[in-house]
Amino acid sequence: MCGIVGGAGKVDFRSYLIGGLKTLDYRGYDSAGLAYRKDGKVNLFKTVGKVEDLDNITPKFTDATMGIAHTRWATHGEPSDTNAHPHFSMHRKVYLVHNGVVENFRALRTKLKFNGYEFVTQTDTEVIANLLEEQYLLLKDPFKAIEKVITMVEGSFACAIMFSDLPELYFMKRQSPLLIGLGKDGNFMASDAVPMMKLCDKFIEVEEDSYGCITQNTYVLMKNGQEIQPNFVVRKAEECTFDKGDYPHFMLKEIEEGPKVIKRLLDNYYDGTSFTFDPKIIECIKEADDVVFLACGTSYYASLLGVEFMHYLGKRSESYIASEWAYYPNLTAKNPLFILISQSGETADLIACQKYINDNGLPNIAITNTRGSTIYRNATFALLLYAGLEVAVAATKSYNAQVTMLAMLTSACSSTEHGVRNIRKLIEAIEDVINRKDEIHELAKKMTQAKDAFFVGRGYDSLAALECALKLKEISYIHAESYAGGELKHGPIALIEKGTPVIGLVSDSISAAALRNNLEELRSRGADIYVISTESLFDKKDDFYTKDVKPYLAAVVKVVFGQYLSYYVSLEKGLPIDKPRNLAKSVTVQ
Ligand code: G6P
Repeated sequence: MCGIVGGAGKVDFRSYLIGGLKTLDYRGYDSAGLAYRKDGKVNLFKTVGKVEDLDNITPKFTDATMGIAHTRWATHGEPSDTNAHPHFSMHRKVYLVHNGVVENFRALRTKLKFNGYEFVTQTDTEVIANLLEEQYLLLKDPFKAIEKVITMVEGSFACAIMFSDLPELYFMKRQSPLLIGLGKDGNFMASDAVPMMKLCDKFIEVEEDSYGCITQNTYVLMKNGQEIQPNFVVRKAEECTFDKGDYPHFMLKEIEEGPKVIKRLLDNYYDGTSFTFDPKIIECIKEADDVVFLACGTSYYASLLGVEFMHYLGKRSESYIASEWAYYPNLTAKNPLFILISQSGETADLIACQKYINDNGLPNIAITNTRGSTIYRNATFALLLYAGLEVAVAATKSYNAQVTMLAMLTSACSSTEHGVRNIRKLIEAIEDVINRKDEIHELAKKMTQAKDAFFVGRGYDSLAALECALKLKEISYIHAESYAGGELKHGPIALIEKGTPVIGLVSDSISAAALRNNLEELRSRGADIYVISTESLFDKKDDFYTKDVKPYLAAVVKVVFGQYLSYYVSLEKGLPIDKPRNLAKSVTVQ
């Protein structure tokens, strides 16, 4: 969602700000803007639309000393030029960009209006700008003003703030991501490291409820009126590579990185003879009476496999959608362990769950792709996925990494070494799907006109079907659902019309015959059936097969099939594959 880029120093601010926004635009947005300070004056440009539109309306300026920029994903107020960030206070003393949601903005706005403030936008952010101005004029000190505003605002914020008469660039942060970058030509700030990667070699994680300022050569971090020490982090270049190489889309590149990502997981957590997980993590899982997974979207679907893996270990386990659990938490288990799965580590609903878990003093393991993210930092234990930056909005390689990580943890808990052999076979099976992707492209061409599509499976395949349907709806805009084979007769079969595509996933000999029966029932009601089986279960009428792997890992291979299918349907329809409408990569508001 919203992306922030800012900095103070001696750099080409035009290319840093606009280039930086481009690296963040994968998060999803509907308007963009920037402000820069030159010759002591603040210049502001903003527009609804793309960063390219912002580029077109921004003059070719040089010699700016500081700047802030933003991509906005509308929450309060429609996407419009006026509602785009940066926002400014009534007397233009403050310009700022904001990521997050001010929950008490109505009450604050009413109070500010009573004090004579007028508002020009429908946003919650303008409230922060006017509050900061009011406090700054009153207290005559930017730090005191920010400190006061932090106590007044309820909700989440990461803000980059320019006071029109001050040479420093200020910031404040709660819950929403913000990182400070230190470079030789200046100091910078952004929602993540990627925009700053070319300029900085050292980063500072901004603490919750802290604030501060940067100049070209200095930085100050504050909390509750006291200066605090920085928490430095190093970001490796490969975690931040923002380059699609020869691929036409990031999604295709990321699907095809699947095998490499799984190999990298083995490299990081297996030394050739045994797993190298922190023994405390393994103990924590073994000792828990109930393993509770929390996640959203694709990560939630990965967690459903985690639940099955924990059942294999003989544990009670369940998974909840974080946006539900955050409002209806359930702490009934005697000795629970929470496993939080998040590619970005910044999903607001999951952060809310983690806060509740931590407030109750309960252990939690974060499985995330983002070192230093909020969920990573606040977990009892954190496990990194090492999948590399995932840019396409539709998650692909991160799902493969999440499920593999869960399988590896399960093997480590049960001390079975054959788990690694199975994972190596998984890599080969994914490579085989990659080599035969053209066959999937041909299948996809048959589905481009579909209004609805269904994925069905039994056992682990029913979990894969959930993720396949999510992928298809996300990027092809075809209404896609998934069902466990046996459930079809209890309702969904009523939806089948002549020509409705139904994709049957058949990977497990235990339920293969039953699923094939279900598919026949649908075929006789007019559905176009596509059977995706495995080498050993292949029937010559099937449409595609994947190589044999253990059923508990077959879901990953079937999902890779689903990722390709969705990609090619979207490609055939000429849709914006990497940035589907209305979606954001990182959902940083609840
Ligand atoms: C958004 C993304 C999905 C992702 C979900 C959870 O909806 O578009 O691809 O699965 O958020 O994100 P997380 O970063 O917590 O895994």
